[in-house]
Amino acid sequence: VVGPSTIPEASCHPGKEPIRVDNDVEGRAETPSDRMENGADGKILDDMPSMPLLPSNAQAQNQNKGGNFTSGDHRTQNLLARKQWIAQQRKSLPIAAVEKRLVDEVRKNDTLIIVGETGSGKTTQLPQFLCNSGFCHDGLLIGITQPRRVAAVTVAKRVAEECNVELGQKVGYAIRFEDVTSSSTRIKYMTDGLLVREALLDPFLSNYSTIVVDEAHERTVHTDVLLGLLKKVQHERSLIIVKRQNPCHTAAKKLIMPDKEDKTQSINNLKPYQNAKLTPLKLIIMSASLDARGFSEYFDGAKAVHIQGRQYPVDVLYTYHPEPDYLDATLITIFQIHLGEGPGDILAFLTGQEEIESVERLVHERARQLPEGSQKILTAPIYSSLPSEQQMNVFKPAPSGSRKVILATNIAETSVTIPGIKYVIDPGLVKARSYNPVTGMESLIIIPTSKAQALQRSGRAGREGPGKCFRLYPESEFGKLMDSTVPEIKRCNLSNVVLQLKALGIKDIFSFDFMEKPSRTGIVKSMEQLYLLGALTDSGELSDPVGLQMARLPLDPIYSKALIIAHEFKCLEEMLIVVAMLSVESIFHFPREKIEEATAAKKSFSSTEGDHITLVNVYRASAECLEKSKAANSKEKTMEKSLNKWCRDNFINSRSLRHARDVHRQIKGHMQQMGLSISSCGDDMVQFRRCLTASFFLNAALKQPDGSYRALLSGQNVQIHPSSVLRAKKPDCIIFNELIRTSQNYVRNVTRIDPLWLPELAPQSFAED
Ligand code: CDP
Ligand code: MG
Repeated sequence: VVGPSTIPEASCHPGKEPIRVDNDVEGRAETPSDRMENGADGKILDDMPSMPLLPSNAQAQNQNKGGNFTSGDHRTQNLLARKQWIAQQRKSLPIAAVEKRLVDEVRKNDTLIIVGETGSGKTTQLPQFLCNSGFCHDGLLIGITQPRRVAAVTVAKRVAEECNVELGQKVGYAIRFEDVTSSSTRIKYMTDGLLVREALLDPFLSNYSTIVVDEAHERTVHTDVLLGLLKKVQHERSLIIVKRQNPCHTAAKKLIMPDKEDKTQSINNLKPYQNAKLTPLKLIIMSASLDARGFSEYFDGAKAVHIQGRQYPVDVLYTYHPEPDYLDATLITIFQIHLGEGPGDILAFLTGQEEIESVERLVHERARQLPEGSQKILTAPIYSSLPSEQQMNVFKPAPSGSRKVILATNIAETSVTIPGIKYVIDPGLVKARSYNPVTGMESLIIIPTSKAQALQRSGRAGREGPGKCFRLYPESEFGKLMDSTVPEIKRCNLSNVVLQLKALGIKDIFSFDFMEKPSRTGIVKSMEQLYLLGALTDSGELSDPVGLQMARLPLDPIYSKALIIAHEFKCLEEMLIVVAMLSVESIFHFPREKIEEATAAKKSFSSTEGDHITLVNVYRASAECLEKSKAANSKEKTMEKSLNKWCRDNFINSRSLRHARDVHRQIKGHMQQMGLSISSCGDDMVQFRRCLTASFFLNAALKQPDGSYRALLSGQNVQIHPSSVLRAKKPDCIIFNELIRTSQNYVRNVTRIDPLWLPELAPQSFAED
C-alpha cells in the first residue's frame, strides 16, 4: 500500500537502534546555570501528573447510550463533563502551581520576562491570573499579543470557554479585519501588528494596564517594532505620572508639549496625558525558548522567571540520506507510523497552504487503499490563512479507533498547543521572508529550520508522554543548522515598519531603539520606496494625505497605495478584488488525477492580459453564482452550498475563495470609512492595466532576448512562474506582485503592460532626465 521508494531509512531498518537524542542533550530541559530562578528553592514548578484526555462528544454520547437521559440531558451532561474536564486540566497545568508567585512578580516588576515550555499554560492562564488579581481595575484591559492571527483567535476562544463567558464579552480578540471585543472586554488577545496600529490612535495605549508580548522568541518584524514602541510608551507613561506629581519636572514637561510642526498630530489627535486613569504600564515578555537574556538586556536588566514545564523523552530518528522529495517522504512516514506504531496523533510540519492541501489529498487517496477494517486516519490542516472556524478542527479529538494527522506550518511549533500528539514528522524546512536591501526586493524562500526550531518541533511529541520525532534529513545535517532564526526585521522589506514608525511620530528611524537594528541600507531603501510611492515627502516626512491614508490601512504600503490610486483611476472595485485575492495563497485547485479538467477550468477564467484580470474574472463569476442563488431566495446555508458546488465544478479552492471574500468585505469597509467611493471600470481593462502599472511600477520587468525578464528598478533577472497565465505568452513588458526564489527567481501574479505607460504613470522612477 505504501510506496517503498523513499521510506525514511531509520524506519527501513527496524533492527537498528534508532538514533536517540535525550531531552537534556537536546537542550529542552535547562541546565541549572541556564535557569533563571525565581525563588530560593530553584524550580518554580514540580512536574504535574499527565492530563486526562477530553471525552469527545461522540465518546460522551456513546457513554450515555442506553442510559436514562433524554437528548437535552445528553447535552447538559456533555457540557458538564467538558467543564469539569477543563477545570481539571487547568489545575494540572504547570503554571497553576505558581499563580500567586507569578502575580507577585508582576506586581513587583514593571517589566517581567517569563520563559516557559510550550504548553505550560502561559498564554491561556497568565491573563486570567492577572485579571483575577485586580489588574483590570477601572475598566483597564490586559492585552496579549501574538505573532499569528490563528493563535489570537484559538486562544481567545479557549479562554472565553474557560472563563465561562461568551467570546467578545470579558474575553475577546482583535486581528486585522476582525474585532471581537466589546466595552466589557478585559482580556484582549490580538496580533502584535494590530497593537502597533492601535498606538496610532492611542499613542500611550491608555486603555491597557498590562501588555503581554507573547511568543517574543519568534522575533517577527511586528514583535520587534512593538517591543521598541512599548519600551517608549512605558517610559513616557511613567513620565506623565511624574509630571502629575511634579509639574516642573523637565523631561515630563517636554513630553507633553510636542513639536508644533509635527504632522503626525493629525493622527495622534488625542490628549491621553489628560486621561485620569493612566497608570504605569506593566510589560510582560513571554517566550518559549531559553534565551531570555537578550530580552532582559534590552529592557534594562528586567527580571526573568522560568516556569518549568513537563517534557517526556522524545526519540529522534533521522534518515540516512537526504530526501529528494520531502512531501513524498512525509506521506510515506505518515503511513508507516499509522500502520506500524501505537496510538497517538501525528503532527507533520510543512511550509504552506499549498503543500498542506496537496499532502492532505494524498493522505485521503492512500487511506482509501488501506485494507478493510484498518484504523481510520483523519486529517486536520492548520495554517495562518485558514478560516477561523476551520482552525478549531485541530483541537477536536479524533473519534476512538481513528488517528488524527495534523498538517501544520510552523504555527504549531509554539503558537498553538494541540493535545494528543505523540509523533512529529519534521522535513526540516520553513517558508521565510528574505530581503535584498540592495535591490529592495523581498521574496519568499523555503529554507532549513534553525536548531531551535527543530528542537521545538520534536518537543511537540513529548507533551503528554514519551514520543517520537522523525526528522526527514540525515543527522549530519542537524549539526549544520543555524542555532536560532535570524529576526525577521533583518530579512524583510522595511517600508511598512518605516511608514508605521513615521505615523507614530518617530522622525528619525535610524535612532529608534530596536532590539536589533535593521541594516542602514535596508532602512534607506525602504524610505526611498515610500518616497517613490508618494508616502514620504522630500524631507522624509509622512505626506498628507497619501502617506497618512496609507498608514491607516492595515495593508502592505504597496497595496494601500494601489487602492488609493485605483480610486483616482475609477477602478477601485477591481483593485479591491485583486488585493483580496492576492492575500490568499492558492485560488486554483489542481488535483493530480484531474489535471486536464482543472487546467481547462482555469482557462475559462484566463485573461490574455494576465493573472490580475484572471483573478477578477474568478471573483466576478463566483459573485454571480451567489447572486443567482440569492435571487432564488435561497437561505444563507443554501447559498454557501451552491458556492461550494460552483467551486468544485470550477476547480477553485473554496477555502481560499471564502477567505478572499472575507478580506474583500473588510477592506471595502476601510475604503468606505475613508470616504473613497467604490467605482468600477467595467470592461475597460486597459484602464485597469494602466492602474496596475501606476500601482506596481516598482515591480516592472522587461523581456530579454533569452526569454527571461529583467526587473527594471532592481536589475534582477526573473522568470514568469509556471502558474501564470502569461507563462507561454511572454509579453514584452510586465508588472508582477511576488518574487519566489527556488532554483530560479520566479515572479507570480503577472500582468502585461505597455512600456510607454511607465514614464507616463510613474515619472518619479521612469521619466528621462
Ligand atoms: O502558552 P503555553 O504554550 O505555555 O500554553 P497554553 O497555550 O496556555 O496552553 C495550555 C494548555 O491548554 C495546552 O496544553 C492545551 O492542551 C490547552 N489548550 C487547548 O486545549 N485549546 C486551546 N485552544 C489552547 C490551549
Ligand atoms: Mg503560548
